[in-house]
Amino acid sequence: MNSPKIFAGSSNKSLSLSVSKKSTIPLGKIQLSVFGDGEIDVWVEEKVNNSDVFIIQSSSQPINNHIIELALIADAVRREGARKITAVIPYFGYSRKEKQSRPGEPISAKVIADLIIASGVNKVVVLDLHADAIVGFFNVPVIYLSALEVLSSRLKKEKLTDPIVVSPDTGGVKRARNFAAFLGAPLAVMEKHRQIEKHDEVEILSMSGEVKGDTAILIDDVISTGGTIIENARALKEKGVKKIFVAASHGVFADHAIKRIEESPIEKVFVTDSVEQKIKSPKIEVVSVSSLIANSLKEEL
Ligand code: R5P
Repeated sequence: MNSPKIFAGSSNKSLSLSVSKKSTIPLGKIQLSVFGDGEIDVWVEEKVNNSDVFIIQSSSQPINNHIIELALIADAVRREGARKITAVIPYFGYSRKEKQSRPGEPISAKVIADLIIASGVNKVVVLDLHADAIVGFFNVPVIYLSALEVLSSRLKKEKLTDPIVVSPDTGGVKRARNFAAFLGAPLAVMEKHRQIEKHDEVEILSMSGEVKGDTAILIDDVISTGGTIIENARALKEKGVKKIFVAASHGVFADHAIKRIEESPIEKVFVTDSVEQKIKSPKIEVVSVSSLIANSLKEEL
């Protein structure tokens, strides 16, 4: 067997570099480019024959380009005789469409999983999927990592008084319960409604749990437009919480999410580097999952 290599897709080069350093698996040479017509091109400049190959690529924005790029890199290393190809997908886009909400809709997460596997991937590493069932969409072994411990360790350093973990919707209760256990804090649950025709608009219908005078910690898998956490924060303020913190595995921050968060009552948002952050904000802090990923890759060798 030849030596293993990591190939960094264009979505998250700094995380790939950090994972490479921590795992001591070298980064392989690769050229990634886009033709004038928008087609993506990939050239793997490294010999990968009989090597274990890890491709690190989040399906962050531009999401469709990053998915195709991952599939093309996998195909390229497969054709060069890689022994095993592991797709490391710190943020798996389309994961929020893991079921049909009404007839006539696709199950997008399944389509994307099929596309990735069809390109030659033998194993997948994912981090905090929107729904655990997505693991079953991949017809190959999946290593499921979670950033909850890393995020809770960071939050513990804030030494918050009277912390209470809040699930921003009923779908996130299991995640929030696990997070509350890491923090040794009680749990409250919000009931969120999202209108089917208006993708990015949410409203809070009700809440279970007593939060008055507490420090609320909202925990979510992904922050996209910020609508969910901002509407939750407003509702929590009305219920009399003192301060609001947010932790989320994936900071997508679409549209004007960061500006909206800065103008909201939220004190601070902690996200991981599963999605590369290009815009800096005093309210956003990035906690790295590079050690978590590096350790899991080392165990694969
Ligand atoms: C939804 O169920 C997810 O867990 C997130 O709460 C949601 O996707 C976040 O999106 P946005 O920031 O656009 O509200």
